[in-house]
Amino acid sequence: MTKKILILPGDGIGPEIVAQAEKVLAYLIAERGLKVELDHGLLGGCAVDATGVPLPDETLVKAKESAAVLLGAVGGPKWEAIDRPLRPERGLLAIRSALGLFGNLRPAVLFPQLAAASSLKEEYVSNLDIMIVRELTGGIYFGEPRGIRTLDDGQREGFNTLVYSENEIERIARVAFDVAGKRQGRVCSVDKANVLEATELWREVVTEIAKDYPDIELEHMYVDNAAMQLVRTPKQFDVILTTNLFGDVLSDLASMLTGSIGMLPSASLASDGSGMYEPIHGSAPDIAGQDVANPLATILSLSMLLRYSLVEVQLADHIEQAVSQVLTDGLRTKDIHSVDTQCVGTDAMGDAVVKALSSLS
Ligand code: IPM
Ligand code: MG
Repeated sequence: MTKKILILPGDGIGPEIVAQAEKVLAYLIAERGLKVELDHGLLGGCAVDATGVPLPDETLVKAKESAAVLLGAVGGPKWEAIDRPLRPERGLLAIRSALGLFGNLRPAVLFPQLAAASSLKEEYVSNLDIMIVRELTGGIYFGEPRGIRTLDDGQREGFNTLVYSENEIERIARVAFDVAGKRQGRVCSVDKANVLEATELWREVVTEIAKDYPDIELEHMYVDNAAMQLVRTPKQFDVILTTNLFGDVLSDLASMLTGSIGMLPSASLASDGSGMYEPIHGSAPDIAGQDVANPLATILSLSMLLRYSLVEVQLADHIEQAVSQVLTDGLRTKDIHSVDTQCVGTDAMGDAVVKALSSLS
């Protein structure tokens, strides 16, 4: 049976960056024998506008029938004032949860051509290759109770719950150890075990599970120190294993080491290998529709989709090589542009990747 890919462009720059990844997909289908069936759906603010909810049932049904989902980005000022359960971001969290996508892989890899665009000096980031393994369907993002309530004295109080079960910790720890086994074999588990009980348990369980992986070196680090170490000596890290919230923060931080948040893809995986693939950046409403957004994180997310969910390893490699080639050719979107490079728009960047890809076959 032909595998299905569901495409969810989302809001803001989502549609324009996803359109570039679709050009790459169209090329792979037409010229490289990739056999997939494409479908489209609504998620986020566009879904609220069309159906009244951020995750329509139809989208979820289609997603469950698909081998993989490719997502742009969701959210924007237009939907900030609406009821909390109807906000675009809730749709994103709901689809992550409903599909069981607990394992979020966020590689922070520096393309050598972009060393000058990094926020750190080249010597600190050359050959940087970190994999952040973020727990994605638990922790404070999903913990109950949550809300904003009014106290007896009339003032309001906001509250959230950080909760992790042993099973949730164990399964994400195993993802990190497995990933590390295919890399340098080192895991740094990031927590706040000195203050938060939920992450004290996290540290205990990770230490226990590590016994099943005698070849993997495990280190623990508090999140404040990890943030500092990431800008001090980022190359000390191989795999960073962490919670939902800490992973959200640290992956944005790590992205700047690689030049731009517009470069970083991600894979969110379920235990059956199905997954959702999205750039780690947001919907950037301020630059939407201007043909300036960087589509490379989305194109690299497509590469991860081919690698992890479709096991089309060669095609995945070729996409990465094509991205590297356009950077070598000096093409840059505005976010990574510098004086000696050629500034191109979103659309032209997509075309350039397809062209580079066609010379690799
Ligand atoms: C991310 C984003 C999301 C998150 C938002 C849009 C809900 O920041 O994927 O990193 O916090 O997980
Ligand atoms: Mg984030």
